[in-house]
Amino acid sequence: MHERIHHRAFTDRLMSAEQAAEFIKPGMTVAMSGFTGAGYPKSVPGALAAQMERQHAAGKDFKINVLTGASTAPELDGVLAKAEGMNLRLPYMSDPELRRRINDGNMEYMDIHLSHVAQHAWFGFYGKIDVAIVEVVGVTAEGDLIPSSSVGNNKTWLEMADKIIIEVNSQQSAAMEGMHDIYYGTALPPHRKPIDLTTVRDRIGQQYMDVDVNKIVAVVETDAPDRLSPFAPVDETSEKIADHLLTFLDSEIRAGRLSEKLLPLQSGVGNIANAVLAGLSRGGYKGLTAYTEVIQDGMLELIKDGTIEFASATSFSLSSEGIEEFNRNVDHYRKRILLRAQEISNHPEIIRRLGCIALNGMIEADIYGNVNSTNVLGSHVMNGIGGSGDFARNGYLSVFMSPSTAKGGKISGIVPMASHVDHTEHDTMILITEQGLADLRGHSPKQRAQIVIDNCAHPEYRPMLQDYFDRACKESYGKHTPHLLGEALSWHERFRQTGDMRPAN
Ligand code: COA
Repeated sequence: MHERIHHRAFTDRLMSAEQAAEFIKPGMTVAMSGFTGAGYPKSVPGALAAQMERQHAAGKDFKINVLTGASTAPELDGVLAKAEGMNLRLPYMSDPELRRRINDGNMEYMDIHLSHVAQHAWFGFYGKIDVAIVEVVGVTAEGDLIPSSSVGNNKTWLEMADKIIIEVNSQQSAAMEGMHDIYYGTALPPHRKPIDLTTVRDRIGQQYMDVDVNKIVAVVETDAPDRLSPFAPVDETSEKIADHLLTFLDSEIRAGRLSEKLLPLQSGVGNIANAVLAGLSRGGYKGLTAYTEVIQDGMLELIKDGTIEFASATSFSLSSEGIEEFNRNVDHYRKRILLRAQEISNHPEIIRRLGCIALNGMIEADIYGNVNSTNVLGSHVMNGIGGSGDFARNGYLSVFMSPSTAKGGKISGIVPMASHVDHTEHDTMILITEQGLADLRGHSPKQRAQIVIDNCAHPEYRPMLQDYFDRACKESYGKHTPHLLGEALSWHERFRQTGDMRPAN
């Protein structure tokens, strides 16, 4: 017992999750570890949710504000949502229970660029942080924390919180010790200095997280896996999207704009991004690098077969097969993966310097290249913007990918006007659907619209888009970015009314 905890101050504070949860009171702001279903606390949130339910049954209110790195899992977001225990949640999330409550209007959700969260917390935008709950792999004899399968905002939460609860999870691989790089050089304006990271491999920090033991109120031992969500099998659509990307990258190499080693890849979350990554191994590349947020199964495969020789991220996000593969070949991966705080993995200065190739999924794009990554029908949040804006805005290339239709063809992924905009036409360079690739660089809005309609729209929707665009070019108030304002969102409205963006006849 306690073989992961080598410091007396921590063993002295060992207690049950139920006892630890007692430190959290109604109205508090609680910052937790966790990023894309990895490294989140596994037991205190559940004990807290049970306490909330008891209070609610007694007619008392018990809600808190919850801050994390990014999405977590049913044991955190799921239980707290079911207990109606959150006033406010930020930033990225993906739990179905939580999503339902946000979209029903029963709680507040704030969607923030992942690189902004730590600095906004330091700026005081979220008020005081009362308690931090952070999962770790273990505690060293010096009282340092060995980070877990995600780093996220943990350094910031440990520094800012009044009280700290540590969960030590013995199911997390002890071999992760040494795979982290925790940078302590960030400061607030006007005292900021350049961050000295010039290649994806650079170590600029330390392998452990510092913690003030006087702030630790509870230590809880757990033995539970991460979320380990399965990815959808690679299908024909995502294979075609990957093929278009490969053809494009090859043409960039031939044009002399990229070398054979490309530039550091960033790959977003979701099935499409995962499948596209897997497709990259078909491209015959060797020795690529990644400067990204999450290591998904697809990335692990690329590291295994040598397509990628080094990857920097802030978190794993593996399926159970992925975690088995990681544990089987952990020595191989240890030398090739580094996990950093999300304020560094997503830092605009570094992304711009390294020249990342940003590959992200989207919900829809409009004919001019404005991209909606977050809100179905402009109002129903799916997951959140995550780090897509950090990378799209600052990368060397910003690529957005999606099937050309959703829901069996009833929804077009290319629409006259995006019903919500996360990435503006000024940030989008490449759009890819299974139909083709639109290279929007160096083109005016009207030129872009024609390329998007010709290359990316599904054949069933292409004539409708062309008709809209042609009429807009004639009738629009201005002829720079032509739109028919009364009609621009009519496809979305039609879907709401009839369940199909296509007209009945
Ligand atoms: N209208 C309505 N629903 C749509 C849609 C549209 N235009 N486009 C996609 N969807 C639905 C799909 O039908 C699917 O729903 P289902 O789960 O009920 O089947 C779901 O969205 C996911 O779509 P899928 O095609 O499987 O793509 P994905 O798993 O790659 O996810 C995003 C796409 C946009 C949701 C995802 O990439 C995302 O959350 N992006 C924002 C965050 C981000 O980019 N992070 C990157 C750095 S962390």
